[in-house]
Amino acid sequence: MSQGNKAAAKAALVPLPVSATYNSDHFQLTPNTLLLADPSNEGAASLLQEYIQQQTKKTLRLTTQPGSNRIILHTDTILVKQPEEYLLHINKEQVTITAYNATGIVRGIATLQQLWQQQNATTLVLPGAVIHDYPRFGYRGMHLDVSRHFFSVDFIKQFIDQLARYKINNFHWHLTDDQAWRIEIKKYPKLQSVAAWRDQTLIGHKKELPHVFDGKKYGGYYTTEEVKAVIAYATARHITVIPEIEMPGHALAALNAYPELGCTKGPYKTAQFWGVFDDVFCAGNDSTFTFLQDVLDEVIQLFPSTYIHIGGDECPKVRWAHCPACQLRMKQEHLADEHALQSYFIKRISEYVHSKGRKIIGWDEILEGGLAPGATVMSWRGVDGAIAAAKQQHHVIMTPEDELYFDHYQSLYPEEKIAAGGYTPLEEVYHYDPLHAAGDTALLPYISGMQGEVWSEYLDTEQQAQYMIYPRLLAVAERAWSPQTVRDYADFRSRLKAQQPLLRAQHIAAAYNFDEINYSIDSLAKGQLYIALHSTDTTAVIRYTTNGSMPGAHSAVYKHPVRLTKSSTLKAALYQQQQPVQRLFHQSFSINKATGATITLKEAPNTKCNGDASLLVNGIAGSKRYNDQQWLGFSKRDLEAVIDLGSEQSIQQVGANCLNYHWQKMWPPTSLEFWISVDGVHFTSLATATDFPVNGINVIRLPVKPVKARYVKVVARNKGVIPEGEYGAGGNSQLLIDEIIID
Ligand code: ACM
Ligand code: ZN
Repeated sequence: MSQGNKAAAKAALVPLPVSATYNSDHFQLTPNTLLLADPSNEGAASLLQEYIQQQTKKTLRLTTQPGSNRIILHTDTILVKQPEEYLLHINKEQVTITAYNATGIVRGIATLQQLWQQQNATTLVLPGAVIHDYPRFGYRGMHLDVSRHFFSVDFIKQFIDQLARYKINNFHWHLTDDQAWRIEIKKYPKLQSVAAWRDQTLIGHKKELPHVFDGKKYGGYYTTEEVKAVIAYATARHITVIPEIEMPGHALAALNAYPELGCTKGPYKTAQFWGVFDDVFCAGNDSTFTFLQDVLDEVIQLFPSTYIHIGGDECPKVRWAHCPACQLRMKQEHLADEHALQSYFIKRISEYVHSKGRKIIGWDEILEGGLAPGATVMSWRGVDGAIAAAKQQHHVIMTPEDELYFDHYQSLYPEEKIAAGGYTPLEEVYHYDPLHAAGDTALLPYISGMQGEVWSEYLDTEQQAQYMIYPRLLAVAERAWSPQTVRDYADFRSRLKAQQPLLRAQHIAAAYNFDEINYSIDSLAKGQLYIALHSTDTTAVIRYTTNGSMPGAHSAVYKHPVRLTKSSTLKAALYQQQQPVQRLFHQSFSINKATGATITLKEAPNTKCNGDASLLVNGIAGSKRYNDQQWLGFSKRDLEAVIDLGSEQSIQQVGANCLNYHWQKMWPPTSLEFWISVDGVHFTSLATATDFPVNGINVIRLPVKPVKARYVKVVARNKGVIPEGEYGAGGNSQLLIDEIIID
């Protein structure tokens, strides 16, 4: 390997250190390399020995002997000022990691691991370097939901290996939920024999009907011994494991085992699909608290973490509202409503956890009805919870779903396996900044850090979990560790490329499609579209066709936005050295009389599906994953749009697409109406649709007797409140409309 190649690899650290300079020296590990460690660093030394053993099959001798060719692990609280900070010097003779404490040594070892250039089975080479490094945030986390799908201890350990490699110092282990209870609790054996299992599991996405189940019993749990092994494994890597025991909601599995803990006393069933369920722990019954305190006793005994996560999210109040015990509790405790009862619940548990010398973390719903003293908040529903908690001087960990939920799609390509929803590509994760999100600088001291979330509803294999976790985990690692000024996606991407062999060597099925072609509308005008194609791989060329044929080595090379004046499918392929790489890009565009016309909305969309009115006439139909920023969503209001065709036009068909997914609270309009006018003031009815039979996209096309008009008004009437018996009954439905068609 040439020095030039080594130099290129030098810069490939993730997360990027605070400062690093490299020189032409190199340190070569030999069979005689010695390892010197202060007594306090012997644990770190074993970790290094373990890594070297894995890489080279050779054991590095721990010694106190002086000599050249050695690795020194050294604590110095004068030179190095803070936990996790380290100095790394590499020259021909020796490698020295100097740190404030053993944690800093371990972080330095993680850097060494990445710098190793393996030449053959026995030789490791490090570039000459001086690195000074410390974290931006004290809390850098990754969460893993093992309830919806169960992951083996080996998988968990491999996950922890990556946390260590990328300097993430907290593993948030989501152990209980509606779909299973996964931690052995000796005092409650039915948590193992009953609550760890479900009779069957939903196949496909919850939004699709009819629901189909696999008929297979599914489950498992971690024994106390396994939990201890995981904690020991993480602790050796200076990673804290934070257990999450969900309450008062997301409790169906526990209620299945112990139905007396619910308001109705059951019977209950461990959930077989995903969502929010009305049956929760009864807040009026003291035996609920006895049970949870017993559980927490065992959890606290096992987990050394300061923080115990008690969930607190998504707890419906309907059972409490009709439960005599809960109502009596509210009366006795002078609680104004069921939100105050939730707060009572969390505070009571929090006090118990405090009495054991620990503290609670909860999702941002624990703000409802007032925060428990000392509670840390994980702000998942955006930033509002974070701001509210920080204003009350509570610590906050940023876990926003839009930017840091890895159950979201990372690509819009239809080939992606089913995911929960959303769209959070690598680049978006990379650009997330927790402090910027918090806004007000006075609140910044309360932002402890950030965390990526891995909800496992649709992660039915360990491979699929890896695909969703990596490489987004690396983006979280860099944002959480590296200085705020480090924010260069192109540079990150090139370092990520250098990490790929490391991930592959560990058989991690990461997603490597972050460079694939995406598109945007460069400009939209009456009857024509200019489509821009992009890839973050700037060394590749894009070849494309617009006639539906497969792009090949001789297809047109993309240079500037592609002009489309009739309905077409754009196909494009990324080429590197004459070879196609990545998946084929394809997108249809439908150009009709409405395309690019002037459109005005009476009221703006007011859901997460929002954007400019022109999205309705941009030639692009929203997908059934509705994560492509094409749909406009309306809650508690109708859609009313007026399209100005510019001049009187002959019209023989009108239409629009409406989404119908009751299981996502998305309801089609009660009526979809088309009105026409020649003056934009007086409208007459042209056509109306009231039937939307498809669960999914209803493509409504209404042929009409040819008429002339300049203005077309489209009205889609909102269903309003979701009816009884339906998912989300009593809440507001969302009306989603995309492309309006006028022919
Ligand atoms: C959550 O996503 N329910 C915390
Ligand atoms: Zn109750």
